[in-house]
Amino acid sequence: MTKEFATLNYDGKEIKLPLVVGTEGEVAIDIGTLRKETGMVTIDPSFMNTAACFSKITFIDGEKGVLRYRGIPVDELVEKTRFIETAYLLLHGKLPNEDQGNKFSTLLTENSLLHEDMRHFFDRFPRGAHPMSIMATMVNALSTFYPNVDTLSLREAVDTSAARIISTFRTLAAFAYKRSIGEPVVYPRHDLPFCANFLNMMFDSPVKPYEMKPEMVRILNSLLILHADHEQNCSTTAVRTVGSAQVNLYATISAGIAALSGPLHGGANQAVVDMLNRIAKDGNVKKYIDKAKDKNSSFRLMGFGHRVYKTYDPRAKIIKQQCHDFLDVMNMDDPMLNVARELEEEALKDEYFIKRNLYPNVDFYSGIIYRAMGIPENMFTVMFALARLPGWIAHWKEMIKSNSKITRPRQIYIGKTPKN
Ligand code: ACO
Repeated sequence: MTKEFATLNYDGKEIKLPLVVGTEGEVAIDIGTLRKETGMVTIDPSFMNTAACFSKITFIDGEKGVLRYRGIPVDELVEKTRFIETAYLLLHGKLPNEDQGNKFSTLLTENSLLHEDMRHFFDRFPRGAHPMSIMATMVNALSTFYPNVDTLSLREAVDTSAARIISTFRTLAAFAYKRSIGEPVVYPRHDLPFCANFLNMMFDSPVKPYEMKPEMVRILNSLLILHADHEQNCSTTAVRTVGSAQVNLYATISAGIAALSGPLHGGANQAVVDMLNRIAKDGNVKKYIDKAKDKNSSFRLMGFGHRVYKTYDPRAKIIKQQCHDFLDVMNMDDPMLNVARELEEEALKDEYFIKRNLYPNVDFYSGIIYRAMGIPENMFTVMFALARLPGWIAHWKEMIKSNSKITRPRQIYIGKTPKN
């Protein structure tokens, strides 16, 4: 950088604002002292143009379609690591060696069992309760079982707490599913690795033992890695914001789960499958493209568009191929995949979508894979949350370690005054 300051001219004064440059060359104007110097604030609703923190965890180039965790491209991680290794990478900044990997794995196993009293909570939720609401409640409830795990003690015990949340969430998710279908819960097993253990808890039954397929374990690892972090998205921002008040980690993660459940965020994977179902029944792709373009309709093509990516979401590229390969190897034929392909093809040549840089995002194909795995639609967003836990915890840890202040934006008041 040649310039070290940006200059703001206002009211006959010249104000110098320092420039900050990231390791990938991103430049930001530091406005931290603006109000002190001028009495003015900046306004940026929905944070369209605001970097809220410094972070070393994930890098995205939305124009080029680049996504890296701790400097490693996500496609490389999908190819070479298992989910728990990527989780370790996000939490610790580097991939684990054999010893570190084994220790992390043991920590996850040791913390996989749910406090038995928590199991009774499931009896009190209404039958039709959405699993995301159940998960947000249950994770928050963990703080009542581990009351001493506050922010300050977590500085020392962060590895155990991270493992406990990741591992217990997996158990809770499978229990929630089993309860919803009226089957007995299946306990975690010490002899199974992370993803296989989850599949076993989901699908094993007293009358039909689960037959573990390596393809299922592989695809689950891939999906979890691809969803593991995505820098300052809505739910991660919720985690950083809530956590900045030094709330305990469980309540903080519960806020992230709530944010992720929205249809504009993680809830989109379920909304995509609902939409594809409707289109498949109707058999008229064009009608839905037109509806998405119609300004008088609130309908949007779910799984399309992204705040940051203005090109094909790199995760969607990988998932699309994996979706195709997985259905092939499992010898499955899902008409929904054909509808998805046709919809994508039509949208990508339509002027409306081209002009607005609207491409398929991570959620467009993931639901089709989850369906093929036998995971019910209302559990799709829970799968996303399971994947995102290491990312949320890594951001929370980074924020706590940087001694950041409580998040507290300003506003521009436009309401009544005593005069009117
Ligand atoms: N279908 C139709 N039009 C769309 C879509 C869509 N999916 N997405 C954006 N647009 C249009 C908007 O109407 C707007 O048009 P305009 O400029 O004529 O008003 C323009 O594209 C820009 O859209 P914004 O809503 O301003 O973009 P924003 O960055 O705020 O929203 C979002 C991004 C929420 C992802 C949006 O694209 C969307 O609603 N997509 C569908 C939901 C979805 O798939 N969410 C998952 C995102 S990925 C994730 O969270 C894991």
